[in-house]
Amino acid sequence: MKIAILGYGTVGRGTYDILQERKNRLEDQVELEVKKVLMLEKEVATCGLDKALVSTDYQEILDDPEIECIVEVTGAKKQGFLFMKEALEAKKHVVTANKAVVSKHFSELNDLADRYQVHFLYEAAVGGGIPILTPLKSQALLNNIDSIEGILNGTCNYILSNMQTKAWGYEETLKKAQDLGFAEADPTDDVEGFDTLRKLVILSSIAQNILVNEDEVALEGISNLGLEDVAYFKDQDLKVKLLASYGKKGDDSYSLIVEPVLIGRDHPLYNVDGETNAITLHGHNVDQLTFMGPGAGKYPTGNAVVCDLIDVARGSDLPLKFGDKTQSAENNIQAAYYISSDQDLNLPEDWFSNEGEKIDGHRARTKALPRDSVIGTLENLRKAGQKIFFARLG
Ligand SMILES: NC(=O)c1ccc[n+]([C@@H]2O[C@H](COP(=O)([O-])OP(=O)(O)OC[C@H]3O[C@@H](n4cnc5c(N)ncnc54)[C@H](OP(=O)(O)O)[C@@H]3O)[C@@H](O)[C@H]2O)c1
Repeated sequence: MKIAILGYGTVGRGTYDILQERKNRLEDQVELEVKKVLMLEKEVATCGLDKALVSTDYQEILDDPEIECIVEVTGAKKQGFLFMKEALEAKKHVVTANKAVVSKHFSELNDLADRYQVHFLYEAAVGGGIPILTPLKSQALLNNIDSIEGILNGTCNYILSNMQTKAWGYEETLKKAQDLGFAEADPTDDVEGFDTLRKLVILSSIAQNILVNEDEVALEGISNLGLEDVAYFKDQDLKVKLLASYGKKGDDSYSLIVEPVLIGRDHPLYNVDGETNAITLHGHNVDQLTFMGPGAGKYPTGNAVVCDLIDVARGSDLPLKFGDKTQSAENNIQAAYYISSDQDLNLPEDWFSNEGEKIDGHRARTKALPRDSVIGTLENLRKAGQKIFFARLG
């Protein structure tokens, strides 16, 4: 199968290198050949590739009947979607790592692949190098998946782990993550949880075989976490993680929440530290499964892309056929919360009867409460100018 790689950055290079390095070994099973690499004009002179391989004109790739599959790894949101849409309409298979596009246009891209009878695969979009979507598709056929919890963003997990183990402040840890290349210059997508949200949309859609929308997810990031919070968690032998949680609630609804969660040693994700990602799911036949590994990086992510290419070339993937959506998200779960403020914290007295604790004048741990009432109250405190951090007690 002849391939065009769109975007020659971290993942594009990782994909290309693996295909070259494993060429001989792959040839026994499947023929994968990169015919073109699409890049921007400014990258051509320094890309180090044979000029015959390079293209700066997507139309040339679309018009080439020999190219059967495109690998979209530009990271571009609008253009990336158009690249994929046009490739599917030209009856070319699509493999991508672009979670922003898959999450937002899941239905349209999946439908196009179905209509034109081509493959659309995106293993690298969730969990980077962790094989999770391919196994999830088959587990979801055999199991009612009633819960998923995941640490899906390496930048957040690196920041949270290092704030906890090294007692570095939030800004200092973020800067270190940026220096090491784990965090983008603009870290908003990561630290405010948008990247995790997109991955939860993809996971929970596959798990339930219905399309979940981004706006169904309740979202809170980690950027208000302070060292005083972390010291309290350490005292309580707890770790804070940015968890993506999907939970089935009866036949009509499910919960979809991305927020900081405090977990103890008995939690399966307690020891997942640094930039590592992990996903744990529960199905009625398999019970609990945990997948763990590098959530990003040139070769882990390139590896996931090449796994998809093998499935495309062998025609061995399991296409998704989403069912009618009769359920919707209901995120008003009952949970206890840790809350801190940079000012005096006045919370309703009945949040503390029997359980819960006012730790000091600006920190508290509530009893189990309806999530909506907690978030509503905290939103009002934020509107009044307070800097609030909160985490669910897992
Ligand atoms: N990096 C990871 O570990 C990782 C892990 C999982 C998933 N992903 C996903 O994989 C995708 C690629 O990520 P990456 O880290 O490889 O990004 P990257 O290093 O920025 O590489 C993307 C490359 O594509 C180029 N590009 C942008 N628009 C283009 C266009 N219209 N035509 C041709 N080239 C174009 C970019 O050029 P400019 O830099 O000039 O824009 C850049 O060289 C993203 O969707 C990301 O979310 C990445």
